[in-house]
Amino acid sequence: MINKVNKIAVLTSGGDAPGMNAAIRAVVRACSYYKIDCFGVYKGYEGLIQNEILELNARSVRNIVNKGGTFLKSARCDEFRTVEGRKKAHDNLVKNQIDALVVIGGDGSFTGALKLSEEFNFPVVGIPGTIDNDINGTDYTIGYDTALNTVVDAIDKIRDTASSHNRLFLIEVMGRDAGDIALNAGIGAGAEEILIPEEDMGVDRLIESLRKSKKSGKTSSIIVVAEGDKSGKNIFELGEYVEENLKGYEVRVSVLGHIQRGGAPSCFDRVLASKLGVGAVEALLEGKSEMMVGIVHKNVTLVSLTKALEKRIHQHDRLVKVADITSV
Ligand code: ADP
Ligand code: F6P
Repeated sequence: MINKVNKIAVLTSGGDAPGMNAAIRAVVRACSYYKIDCFGVYKGYEGLIQNEILELNARSVRNIVNKGGTFLKSARCDEFRTVEGRKKAHDNLVKNQIDALVVIGGDGSFTGALKLSEEFNFPVVGIPGTIDNDINGTDYTIGYDTALNTVVDAIDKIRDTASSHNRLFLIEVMGRDAGDIALNAGIGAGAEEILIPEEDMGVDRLIESLRKSKKSGKTSSIIVVAEGDKSGKNIFELGEYVEENLKGYEVRVSVLGHIQRGGAPSCFDRVLASKLGVGAVEALLEGKSEMMVGIVHKNVTLVSLTKALEKRIHQHDRLVKVADITSV
């Protein structure tokens, strides 16, 4: 027997991402369209445990489609990692007579959502919201496209000064342990070298490759380094190593950090968020649970949260080759 869904709650969890507001807006507007009540939960799972839940309507989410961040705020909540914490959360959902939950977040948030659903038989649907683009079962996660454009813009600016001083820049980008941002933004910005977690290039091969670039007449170089790269050195140690082993270049380091998480979402991310937000509500109304709405070959698809949480198979070989060829 599928319980009728009359009241849906939505929360944002984990690292925030540009486009999360657009996703919240789509969930709330879809609830309004299908004439069911919608509630927002502040500060992710922390707010669920603290019962920081407020009713939302179509007007509550006006003028946010173009805003970065999440007006519901996010949090990292250790208490929710305990069954006692999840019971408090579930009790609050019941107290507010909420029938189902939409979780906008990354793999950690989905892990928590799956446990809540399994332990309390509570309907949940996930929307992939993280700049890392590291979720199985979707071609894109909300925030990834915006982050890519932020990084490319930053690298373009750094290239201006690098070429003015014949310098070599190491630029660290986010991605936790996925190389999607580093690889795609690196190609887009014409980086000479790109280090990603999925490939251990080795620092000596890096030096050799930079020597070749120098011999070919390059007077400045950009190396994009994913924060989870496997060089075994942090970005500053890597910079020192390169400067010691590659004569003729001044080396500078730039860590882009949390600017990659901010900014107005791109149109792509706004549209993606709108599609997935509506898809999540429709999935719950169809009685689905423990699923994630994603986009695969332009189509909104549903995949089990279990599948979404599986480690992604390394998909970068072709793109690594494109990066090698276009940076000669
Ligand atoms: P993301 O969703 O971006 O991966 P986190 O990994 O920080 O972000 O997870 C966000 C929140 O999800 C955590 O603060 C915690 O409340 C919950 N969570 C993460 N992992 C688990 C887990 N294994 N069990 C229960 N809850 C979890
Ligand atoms: O998961 C998104 C992300 O931005 C990662 O790319 C990064 O490693 C992490 O969050 C940073 O976490 P925090 O915002 O807690 O410092």
